[in-house]
Amino acid sequence: MEQNKLEKIVSLCKRRGFIFPGSEIYGGLRGTWDYGPLGTELKFNLKQAWWKYMVQDQENVFGMNASIMMNPKVWEASGHVASFTDPLIECKTCNERFRADKLDDIREHEEMHAKKKEKVEWTEPKQFNILVEAKLGVIEGEKLTVFLRGEITQGVHVNFKNVIDSMHPKIPFGIAQIGKAFRNEITPRNFIFRSREFEQMELQTYVKPDENSAMSVFEDMRQMRMQWYLNLGMNKDKLRFREHAADERAHYARAAWDIEYETPWGWDEAEGIHHRGDWDLSRHSQFSGEDLSYFDQETKEKFIPWVIETSAGVERPLLYFLLDAYHEEEERIVLKLHPKLAPFKAAVFPLLKNKPELVAKAQEIYKDLKKNFSVAWDDRGNIGKRYFSQDEIGTPYCITVDFDTLEDDAVTIRDRDTMKQERIKISELQAYIRKSLE
Ligand code: GAP
Repeated sequence: MEQNKLEKIVSLCKRRGFIFPGSEIYGGLRGTWDYGPLGTELKFNLKQAWWKYMVQDQENVFGMNASIMMNPKVWEASGHVASFTDPLIECKTCNERFRADKLDDIREHEEMHAKKKEKVEWTEPKQFNILVEAKLGVIEGEKLTVFLRGEITQGVHVNFKNVIDSMHPKIPFGIAQIGKAFRNEITPRNFIFRSREFEQMELQTYVKPDENSAMSVFEDMRQMRMQWYLNLGMNKDKLRFREHAADERAHYARAAWDIEYETPWGWDEAEGIHHRGDWDLSRHSQFSGEDLSYFDQETKEKFIPWVIETSAGVERPLLYFLLDAYHEEEERIVLKLHPKLAPFKAAVFPLLKNKPELVAKAQEIYKDLKKNFSVAWDDRGNIGKRYFSQDEIGTPYCITVDFDTLEDDAVTIRDRDTMKQERIKISELQAYIRKSLE
């Protein structure tokens, strides 16, 4: 089951409108994915859960939203032009290219050739820059080569001065952002796990430049980030921390820990917590000529703050929440997604679709619930089929309007996980659903 769980998720995502291969009718575009009606809701809910927890529930954390295209000097200063590279090797037999540090992919490729009795020889590894380029401008020959951002981080650091001048925050403080990032990945893999276009959710926390302040925030961030997954119902046995060895760390990181999830292909990264020191602000000060230091009103000291970063993708957690929620039971497939993440919080059914009085009452309830929640309407097939269909997309509650409803103003509400049904008053529905979202 574990082995083909990923294939089952890919198929469910396509069949039920979560995620489609990018540009599918033109044969696709490797490493890109399109989100369908339910995937868009799920992704939105995931980002909203992150934003609420990491920004709105915190004190001294500010949000921002920077451009994807930035002055190319940003990427020279950040070190990405020189160092945002992966080691690339090429199979001399078929010219396919691989990341030299992804040993499973290499082994799989060698086995494929071995089955055909072919020997594999590899080229020497060479460093391949994964920034994606775009051309900007209207005159051919004079177009400016820009980079689509390889991490969303730099948009925050280059606005550091703007945020402190406008918000006057007291250190330590954070600046958060959610947005698209692009990487020319050598081998996009495992569905949305490694894509060329993806989204990131990041919080940069600016701290005083001393190891005690930095490590105390670092530890808080590690715990806080792990708690986020647990609060959203992820199985704690499938989560762990892993510290990066020195030779694994990105060029900007003094210390790095990942949160990992046990996927069908083994433990793999969900997100990273990084100690970036003063790398970003000092480099941008140096390259832009702007003074990006902070003046501490309390101590009257002026310094370049250090940065503790939490950087999560959207797609990897989204895939892990799907994998974690996916259950095959005797007569059904069910996505036990946390109600906060579920694309629909409830589905409303009239018991019979050819009884106008039932349809009218069910429509009234549906429209009323829709004012506050994302709710589905389903009048196809029999009730059993509708339950099955809603279970498969993770809808926590199904609400059925029957003939008794017309007499007692109550409905049958069925719980996705326990499959238990109970009768509740229509006037209590809103509170019932809201409680599940707390
Ligand atoms: N600002 C720091 C930074 O970008 P990273 O470890 O390179 O750090 C952070 O990326 C997160 O972004 C990863 O943990 C992962 O969730 C996500 N991510 C990175 N590359 C990705 C890719 N090619 N496809 C999908 N998600 C990716």
